[in-house]
Amino acid sequence: MMKIRIALLLLCFCMVAMAMTSPLPDDDQSPEAVERWFRYVRPFAKPKLTKLKFYYHENRVAATPTAVEVARANLTATSRTGFGSTYVIDDPLTVSPDPNSQVIGRAQGIYASASQEDFAFILQFNVVFTAGEFKGSTLSVMARDPITNTYREPSIVGGSGAFRLARGVISTHTYSLDPATLNVVVEYNVFVEHY
Ligand SMILES: *[C@@H]1O[C@H](CO)[C@@H](O)[C@H](O)[C@H]1NC(C)=O
Repeated sequence: MMKIRIALLLLCFCMVAMAMTSPLPDDDQSPEAVERWFRYVRPFAKPKLTKLKFYYHENRVAATPTAVEVARANLTATSRTGFGSTYVIDDPLTVSPDPNSQVIGRAQGIYASASQEDFAFILQFNVVFTAGEFKGSTLSVMARDPITNTYREPSIVGGSGAFRLARGVISTHTYSLDPATLNVVVEYNVFVEHY
């Protein structure tokens, strides 16, 4: 009886140790794997802070633009802030401000001019990592973006893969803006807590 108890204890201990030391199996998206992640992996894992830096490149006027206007209201044309103008984006994210530097992911989603007073947009997009340590994982961004501020702080409200249940803040800063084309490069400093 005693032996069985000790064996069981040892087994439990080993399972906990494995959960703490093995990389989280976050690439299986089946319901069984997701439940396993919630029940046995995450409770033993300690949330960690990951810092990432990359550059967002938006090009509205290229032959193949990365941001396209898909909707606007009649009053958008006369609004000082372009209120109602809505864009779909698929913008490359690179390791340096040089647009030809390595692409590590893409910002895919929607933004719209959502203020009649200020130049402020609603951002709703996913950061989709296509290279590097977080390839295949995503971060979900949902935020207000008052673009004339030196720094903005879009919130990370979730994610997938390595970023399941992620929460965080991105400190963004306009690195360069071409007034003629409105092409823009934005510096992203990501601070994200995840398991
Ligand atoms: C927008 O403008 C068009 C063209 O002038 C007009 O036909 C339409 O009724 C307007 N829509 C609204 C909601 O005012």
